[in-house]
Amino acid sequence: MKKIRYAVVGAGVIANYMARAFTEGRDSVAVALADPNLEAAHKLAPTLGVTRVVADYHALLGDPEIDAFYLATPPFLHRPMTLDVLRAGKHVCVEKPFMLNQAEVREVIAAQKAAPHLKVTCNSSRYHDAGTARRARQLVADGALGQLYRVHFEQVTPASKPGATLPPWRDDPAKNGGGISFDWGAYDLDWLSFVLGDKFRPRTVFATTGNYFPLTPERVPPCLNVDGRICAEIICDGGLTIHWERRACEHGPARHNIEFRGTKAGFDTSFLAMGEKPGLHLHSYVGAEDLKTVTLPDAPPDWQDTMVFSIRDLSRAILEDRAPSNTLADNLRIHGVFDATIASAKSQQAVRVGE
Ligand SMILES: NC(=O)c1ccc[n+]([C@@H]2O[C@H](COP(=O)([O-])OP(=O)(O)OC[C@H]3O[C@@H](n4cnc5c(N)ncnc54)[C@H](O)[C@@H]3O)[C@@H](O)[C@H]2O)c1
Repeated sequence: MKKIRYAVVGAGVIANYMARAFTEGRDSVAVALADPNLEAAHKLAPTLGVTRVVADYHALLGDPEIDAFYLATPPFLHRPMTLDVLRAGKHVCVEKPFMLNQAEVREVIAAQKAAPHLKVTCNSSRYHDAGTARRARQLVADGALGQLYRVHFEQVTPASKPGATLPPWRDDPAKNGGGISFDWGAYDLDWLSFVLGDKFRPRTVFATTGNYFPLTPERVPPCLNVDGRICAEIICDGGLTIHWERRACEHGPARHNIEFRGTKAGFDTSFLAMGEKPGLHLHSYVGAEDLKTVTLPDAPPDWQDTMVFSIRDLSRAILEDRAPSNTLADNLRIHGVFDATIASAKSQQAVRVGE
């Protein structure tokens, strides 16, 4: 059975979590690892099952024994690395956020057009694998909700532990694109794009953002120079409006709430079993009866499967010559929303999403 042979670039936190994608005996195997931090690379290499370790990924670009790259590096490196990989004729899975802005996505699209057989995806697709996401997508695609007019998407993550530290790139918007907006927002927008399908046509955004702040003198988030909360009203072509809110490190409990409302039915759900009400709850009025709520059965989510989904999906996409679950067209829209969110928060005006 043919396996897709990957070069892993970056031996940091996420590459360690992703090792199983290349060792689980399915379609993907790692054959090389690159990181200028050779100590980190040599530590990770045995877990990945890799003996070839290099400091500079350029040394791997021309290797005919490598089919694809997994880029697990900080966001400001995603653009140059992705362009190098595509120009070398290899497929690529890029960590999230895919790029820093929509202009960078356009550069990647141009590079991929020159080699259209190459598959490009972003690891923000990991939540597509949740049963709730697939069910939600089906309900939207089938028209079971009638005309979908409102999505309310609100996620709040808890405060970081006292004394927590993070690598310096996490505190620099020039290197990460943004704080919680890009860190978790990349998953949010990818989930919305996947579930909404062709109904995700963002046109205008009105948004506010605010930076992280010390909760107490003892509990200071490690990144004070980036956003710790965003709130955006996204108006889509076709009449759908989306309220997208993501907050972190605040004086309040975690919250995970997703509501879809249409003219025939609505549902509440969450990314995974991290919601206050796990599963998918379909609501509708029938005749003069009281509101009926049906909880749709769902396989319990498996975090291990979720983590490795994007690599599994890319390998299958290469083997079957089909589009991956997250595409360049999705990333163009997602980064259009990011750009408009930042511009709107700065100008306090509604901003048109770039196409
Ligand atoms: N930490 C997480 O839980 C997590 C989860 C999902 C996605 N991500 C994403 O994964 C990416 C990496 O995050 P991380 O937390 O692993 O960062 P990290 O800082 O822990 O690791 C980044 C690694 O990249 C290496 N690196 C830097 N320059 C390089 C180069 N030129 N060539 C090869 N390697 C180079 C660094 O030496 C480091 O080992 C980011 O885009 C992040 O948003 C992180």
